[in-house]
Amino acid sequence: MRRTSLFAVIAAALLGMSALLFPPPAEARISLEKCTLCHGKTEFRKILVDGKIRELFVTADSLKGSVHEKKTCVDCHFDVSEIPHR
Ligand code: HEC
Ligand code: HEC
Repeated sequence: MRRTSLFAVIAAALLGMSALLFPPPAEARISLEKCTLCHGKTEFRKILVDGKIRELFVTADSLKGSVHEKKTCVDCHFDVSEIPHR
C-alpha cells in the first residue's frame, strides 16, 4: 500500500516536471520524433549569407546502418534541451 502511494507521488512529480519543460505531449526526454518534426522535412535547409546551402535534413534513416544506429539525436546533441532550440 505504502509502496503504491509512493510510486504515485513520484509519477505525479515526474509528470509535473515534464509538463513544465515541454508542453504536451509530455516526455521525460526529447525523442527523435521531436527532432524530425522539423529536421525530417526533406526541404529543411538554410541558405547562408554567402549563398551556400546548409542541409538540415536529418532523420532516423541517417543513423541507420551506422554504429550510431542505437543512438538518438540528443545523445550527441545534448545541448538541445528545449524546443524550439536556438
Ligand atoms: C521547430 C523546428 C525544430 C525542431 C523541432 C528541431 N530543430 Fe534543430 N534546427 C532547427 C532550425 C530552424 C535550425 C537552423 C538554425 C540556424 O542555423 O539558424 C536547426 C539547426 C539544428 C542543428 C545545427 C545547429 C548549428 O547551428 O550548429 C542541430 C545540431 C539541430 N538543429 C539539432 C536538433 C535536435 C537534436 C533536435 C531534437 C532534440 C532538433 N534540432 C529539433 C529547427 C528545429
Ligand atoms: C553519433 C552522434 C550523433 C547523432 C546520434 C546525431 N548527430 Fe547530428 N551531428 C553530429 C555531429 C558530430 C555533427 C556535426 C557537428 C558540426 O558540424 O558542428 C552533427 C550535425 C547535425 C546537424 C547540422 C548539419 C549541418 O550540415 O550543419 C543537424 C541539423 C543534426 N546533426 C541533427 C541531428 C538529428 C535531428 C539527429 C537525430 C535524428 C542527429 N543529428 C543525431 C552527431 C550526431
